[in-house]
Amino acid sequence: MEPLAILVLLCFPICSAYPLHGAVRQDHSTMDLAQQYLEKYYNFRKNEKQFFKRKDSSPVVKKIEEMQKFLGLEMTGKLDSNTVEMMHKPRCGVPDVGGFSTFPGSPKWRKNHISYRIVNYTLDLPRESVDSAIERALKVWEEVTPLTFSRISEGEADIMISFAVGEHGDFYPFDGVGQSLAHAYPPGPGFYGDAHFDDDEKWSLGPSGTNLFLVAAHELGHSLGLFHSNNKESLMYPVYRFSTSQANIRLSQDDIEGIQSLYARPSSDATVVPVPSVSPKPETPVKCDPALSFDAVTMLRGEFLFFKDRHFWRRTQWNPEPEFHLISAFWPSLPSGLDAAYEANNKDRVLIFKGSQFWAVRGNEVQAGYPKRIHTLGFPPTVKKIDAAVFEKEKKKTYFFVGDKYWRFDETRQLMDKGFPRLITDDFPGIEPQVDAVLHAFGFFYFFRGSSQFEFDPNARTVTHTLKSNSWLLC
Ligand SMILES: *[C@@H]1O[C@H](CO)[C@@H](O)[C@H](O)[C@H]1NC(C)=O
Ligand SMILES: [Zn+2]
Ligand SMILES: [Zn+2]
Repeated sequence: MEPLAILVLLCFPICSAYPLHGAVRQDHSTMDLAQQYLEKYYNFRKNEKQFFKRKDSSPVVKKIEEMQKFLGLEMTGKLDSNTVEMMHKPRCGVPDVGGFSTFPGSPKWRKNHISYRIVNYTLDLPRESVDSAIERALKVWEEVTPLTFSRISEGEADIMISFAVGEHGDFYPFDGVGQSLAHAYPPGPGFYGDAHFDDDEKWSLGPSGTNLFLVAAHELGHSLGLFHSNNKESLMYPVYRFSTSQANIRLSQDDIEGIQSLYARPSSDATVVPVPSVSPKPETPVKCDPALSFDAVTMLRGEFLFFKDRHFWRRTQWNPEPEFHLISAFWPSLPSGLDAAYEANNKDRVLIFKGSQFWAVRGNEVQAGYPKRIHTLGFPPTVKKIDAAVFEKEKKKTYFFVGDKYWRFDETRQLMDKGFPRLITDDFPGIEPQVDAVLHAFGFFYFFRGSSQFEFDPNARTVTHTLKSNSWLLC
């Protein structure tokens, strides 16, 4: 991301057209705050207009109004003092956009017995206190549903709970003291269901500092499938406030109805009044076809794109239910049946390969001067097409896979590295050529080959998991 560019873009419409009133000075830190807040919690994107082809002229004002409406403020569309004050309050790191009480697609655990693991601890509290705060937080939900929880101390639990600071392996780095306190992902495999707590907060059990029990009860609501509520009484309201009755916290009716729409009532009352559970959305048969393979996979600004024939699935972090689009609806000039795609060093730019040509796209625009020939990247004439490409952010290198070999491209120097190609099996033991697509995320390489997917740990130099290719599409 380019913070400066976004700041200028955002600042222009607000500064010029919507002067502030009230006591707040519209200095740069306010603009910065507003920019970050709307980006983080209201999905304000520099490229949103382009990407979604929206026609409205003042997306910033719309976003401010959306925020004011959700949080129960007067809808002025301006950065007035109440709005800025609200933006300063500590809160949950999960965005507010949605307008539904569960995550879109209503992901939920398809079982009633759920495991959790406390992966590591904050130093602010004794371990036993953390254990008991988490246990009490789960109890809050256990009491109104048929769900039960058991703690494991090793291996992969449904809900992995950890404390971390700053960048911590997902796309949502924490931000130091205050502001975002924690976030959690909706139910699903892998990192889904996990809850992360910002260890730059001063975690406490009382009214001072940040109360771990309260925040955990809220976050675990996300882990079970609840989204934010705009009801101020609700535990799922996104802004943190300490309540003195926290020792015996009571869920609001809103929370209870939300969670019971996913899981029904506790089994003891279930026989009395059965609650119709929300039926899961009918699945796209293609998406969950066990034989599904992909042509190409890439990231785009923290989202995942999975290409297949004329279509692609788009999956965001907060919505495990993927969107399904025609490639031509976004990029009319691109061919179908792509070979490879990767998000280049400078974000927002995806390079897309088919045959001996490649294109650079930004938002929904194909950049001028493309397609170019793949040989301009340094491939010998014998290479007629690329199987897969992936960019490793940390090393600023791109790996191109062709048959049983791979090339490494230095994005900083824009040159192929010396000593390549090398054999895939020499450097990625356990990965058999030829691969369809590769993704780099969470420190792993994910190799797609037919309907199988191999999670490769580059440090251990070994395949750590074998999955179905469409596991990312929540199948
Ligand atoms: C705790 O675990 C998480 C997830 O594995 C990691 O990101 C974080 O750095 C760890 N925190 C500490 C204090 O070790
Ligand atoms: Zn939240
Ligand atoms: Zn996180």
